[in-house]
Amino acid sequence: MLARATEFKRQGVDIISLGAGEPDFDTPAPIRAAAVHAIEQGETRYTPVDGTHQLKTAIQAKFQRDNALAYTPEQILVSSGGKQSLFNLCLALLGPGDEAVVQAPYWVSYPEMVRLADAKPVIIDTGIEQGFKLTPEQLAAAISERTRLVILNSPSNPTGACYSREEMVALGTVIADFPDVVVVSDDIYEHIHWGKDPFVSFATACPALAERTVTVNGVSKAYAMTGWRIGYAAGPEWLIRGMKTVQSQSTSNPCSVSQAAAVAALEGDPSVVAEMTRHYKARHEAVIEGLSAIPGFECHPGDGAFYAFPRVAEAVQRLGLSSDLELAERLITDARVALVPGTAFGAPGYLRLSFALSLDDLREALDRVKSAVMA
Ligand SMILES: Cc1ncc(COP(=O)(O)O)c(C=O)c1O
Repeated sequence: MLARATEFKRQGVDIISLGAGEPDFDTPAPIRAAAVHAIEQGETRYTPVDGTHQLKTAIQAKFQRDNALAYTPEQILVSSGGKQSLFNLCLALLGPGDEAVVQAPYWVSYPEMVRLADAKPVIIDTGIEQGFKLTPEQLAAAISERTRLVILNSPSNPTGACYSREEMVALGTVIADFPDVVVVSDDIYEHIHWGKDPFVSFATACPALAERTVTVNGVSKAYAMTGWRIGYAAGPEWLIRGMKTVQSQSTSNPCSVSQAAAVAALEGDPSVVAEMTRHYKARHEAVIEGLSAIPGFECHPGDGAFYAFPRVAEAVQRLGLSSDLELAERLITDARVALVPGTAFGAPGYLRLSFALSLDDLREALDRVKSAVMA
C-alpha cells in the first residue's frame, strides 16, 4: 500500500497516506546540533561493536530514571535500530524446535524474525473485545516446554494497547513456571503514552523475571529519529553477549554520528518528547471520533503509540467486498487514502492507520474514507 501511495503521489495524484510508522516531526534541533558537532570533532570512525561508552552511560541513566532498572555496561547492546536488537536476539536465542509466543495483532517483523531463526512463532489472537491484550489464560494455553521466547510490546504497534502493571504481573505468573523462557519487552513506544495507567516495563513489573527479560527500546519513535537508526537492548549478560556476537559478525557498530545524537536525545530536555506526545494524543482523540462516525467501523481507543486499529468487517460486508485487503484497495482507489490491511498484522478484518500527520490531513482523510464507505 505504501509503495502504491508513493507511486500515486509521483503521478501527481492527491493521496493521503495513513500508512507510515514514523513521526512526522523533525528531529529536535539540539539533537541535530550534537550530530554536527560529533562530525566536526572527528567522531567518524568505528566505535566499540556494542556502542560507545557515552551512549551506554546515557542508556544506563535512562533505565534507572524511567524504569528503575539497573544494568551494567556488559548488559547493554546498542544496535542500528531497535529492530536490529530484536533480530540479534532471535538469532542468538532461537533455533530449530524452539517456539516463540507472539500475540496478534503483531508488529509485522516479529513472526518473520522468529522464522528467520528457524524457530516457530506461536500466534495467539487477541481481538478488539479483549482490548487487544493477551490474557494469562491464553498465555498458559500457548506456552510449553518448547517455548523459548515470549514477545511483549506495550504500547503496541498496531493497536496502541498498553498493559497495566497488574496485567504484566498476571502474565509474569504464568511465565515464572517455565524457567527456560526469555521475555522480550519491546518498549519502543514507551514515551508516546497517555493511558490512565502509567507506563510500566515488564522487568520493572516482574522483578523476579528481570534476569531473563530483554528490554528493547530506541530513539526512533520518541525523539523523531527513525532515519538515524539507533536502538538498544538490555538484559542478561549471557544473552547480550550472544546478541553482540551476531552484530559483530554482521553489521558491527551502529553509526558513530547517530550514537552521539542519541546521547543528546537521552540526556536532553524531556519536555521535547512530552510536546510531541501531546500532539499524538490530540490526534488520537480526533481519529477515534472520526472513525466512530464511519458506518461499519468499530474502534477501541489506544493508550499510546500513533496507530488506530479499527475493526472494519462490517464495512467490508456493507460494500460487498470479501476482505480488509479489498477494502484497503477500494480506499486507495476511490478515497485516495492509503491504510494498511489488518491481515499484514495477523488480524484480518481490521485496518491500521497511523496518525503521525497533521490534524487537518487526518480529518480530510477520515472524511474521504467515510464518503467512500457510504457511497
Ligand atoms: C513495535 C516496534 N518495535 C520495534 C520497532 C523498530 O524500530 P527501530 O528499528 O526504528 O528502532 C518498530 C518500528 O516500526 C516497532 O513498531
